[in-house]
Amino acid sequence: MSSSPRFSALKGIQDILPPDSSLWQKVEAAAKEVFTLHGFQEIRPPIIESTALFTRSIGETTDIVEKEMYTFLDKAGRSITLRPEGTASVVRAYVEHHLYNLPSPQKFFYSGPMFRYERPQKGRFRQFHQIGVEAFGVDAPFLDAEIIVMLRVLLERLGLKGVNFEVNSIGCEKCRPGYRSALQDFFSARLEDLCPDCRRRYEQNPLRILDCKVERCIEVRRGAPRVTDFLCGDCRAHFDEVLSALTLLNIPHVLNPDMVRGLDYYTRTTFEVTSEHLGAQKAVAAGGRYDRLVEEFGGPPVPGIGFAIGMERLTTLLRDNEGVIGPFPDVCIAPIGEKATKEAFLMAGRLRARGVWAEAGYDGSSLRSQLRRADRLSSRYVLILGDDELSSGRVKWKNLRDGSQGEVDIRGIEEFLSAALRGR
Ligand code: HAM
Repeated sequence: MSSSPRFSALKGIQDILPPDSSLWQKVEAAAKEVFTLHGFQEIRPPIIESTALFTRSIGETTDIVEKEMYTFLDKAGRSITLRPEGTASVVRAYVEHHLYNLPSPQKFFYSGPMFRYERPQKGRFRQFHQIGVEAFGVDAPFLDAEIIVMLRVLLERLGLKGVNFEVNSIGCEKCRPGYRSALQDFFSARLEDLCPDCRRRYEQNPLRILDCKVERCIEVRRGAPRVTDFLCGDCRAHFDEVLSALTLLNIPHVLNPDMVRGLDYYTRTTFEVTSEHLGAQKAVAAGGRYDRLVEEFGGPPVPGIGFAIGMERLTTLLRDNEGVIGPFPDVCIAPIGEKATKEAFLMAGRLRARGVWAEAGYDGSSLRSQLRRADRLSSRYVLILGDDELSSGRVKWKNLRDGSQGEVDIRGIEEFLSAALRGR
C-alpha cells in the first residue's frame, strides 16, 4: 500500500488562519478607511511583471535584485518576476495609463502578497504581505509630512503603541556624487575587510555597502560619512520643512542619519516605523520619496512618495498587544431530532437574511455536545429546538454571556434575536 504524500507550505511561506485572518481584515478595513479620508483610491496591479521593471527601479546592486527575486522564464522565454514590492508596479501603471494627465496629486493604495527569497526568520518571510500607498505629482514637504501622519493615524487607530518614527533625507542626484566619493574615500582603506559583494558595490554603488547585512561589513562601516552632511541646499531646505511640519503637528520622530533604504529609487525623505518588540526585523512600515522614478520609466518629471506596511509584522505586534479574539457566532441552534434539524436549517437561513450569524447543528449529536460546541465557539446565544418546542411553537433560548434564559414564540425568533443583538 502506497502512503499518501503529506504536503506542507513552502519554506518561509505561511497560511493565514482564522482567527488571525479576522485581525488582518480589521487592519485592511481600517487602512482603507484612513487612506480614503486622505484621498487615496485603490489600485490593483498584477503580481507578476517583467523582470526588468524591478531591476531598473529597485537597482541592480540591491540585495533584492541580486539575491531575492523569484524570477522565471515563461513559455515564450520572457523573464518574469513575482513582485518583491509594490512601488515599481504602481509607477509602471501610472506611466502606462498616462495618469499624470489627471489632476495632481494622484494617490493610490494597494495591498497583497510580495515575494522575496530571503532567509526566513522571525518577521521575515518569502511570501509576505504589504499594504502600501503611493502619491504622485507634489514635491511639497507638507505632503511628506501628511503621508507620515496618515501612517501614524492608522497605527494609532489600530491601537499600536511603542513604535518609533525614524526619518532621514538621502538627497537627490545633485547631492549624490559628492556623497558617493566621500564613501569611496572612506572605504578605500578598508576594502579588504568588506564582503565580496560590497567590494563590487564599492565600484558600482557604494551607498549599498551601508545596507549590507553581513556582520563584518556592519563593523567596517562604523564611522562612515553620513548622507545628511552632503545634502545640497534644496534638499536641506526640503528636509528641514518636513521636520518642522512634523513638529507643527506634534508628531514625535527621531532623526536617523544612518537609515539608507534597501531600494535604489529613493530621493530625499525616507522613513521607517520601527518597534523594539519585533527582534532583528524591526521595521513594521517604511517608505520615502522617489522623485526620479516616473521619469526613469519614460514618464514626465513627476515626483512620487509612498510607504508600505508589512502585514505580518503589524499583525504580530497587534496580536501581542491585545491577543486575537473572535469573531463569534451570534447564535447556535441546537436541534434534537430530524424534524427539528430541518426547522433549524430553515431558521438559520432566515436569521442570516436578517444579518444574524447563525450556526445550526446538523449532525444529530446530543443536546449536551451541541451546548458544549456553542460554548467553545463563544456563541452569544443558543436556541434549543426539540420535538416539544416544535409542537408547542415555543423555543428555548439562553444567553451564554450572562446566563439569562427564557422562551420565545418560534415565529418571533428572528425579531427577538435581532433586537437582543442590536446592542452587541
Ligand atoms: P521595504 O522596506 O522593502 O519597502 O518593505 C516595506 C515593509 O515590508 C518592511 O518595513 C517590512 O515591514 C515589510 N517586509 C519587507 N520584506 C519583508 C519580508 N521578507 N518578510 C516580511 N515583511 C517584509 C518597500 O517595499 C517599498 N516599496 C515601500 C515604499 C512604498 N516606498 C515608497 N513607496
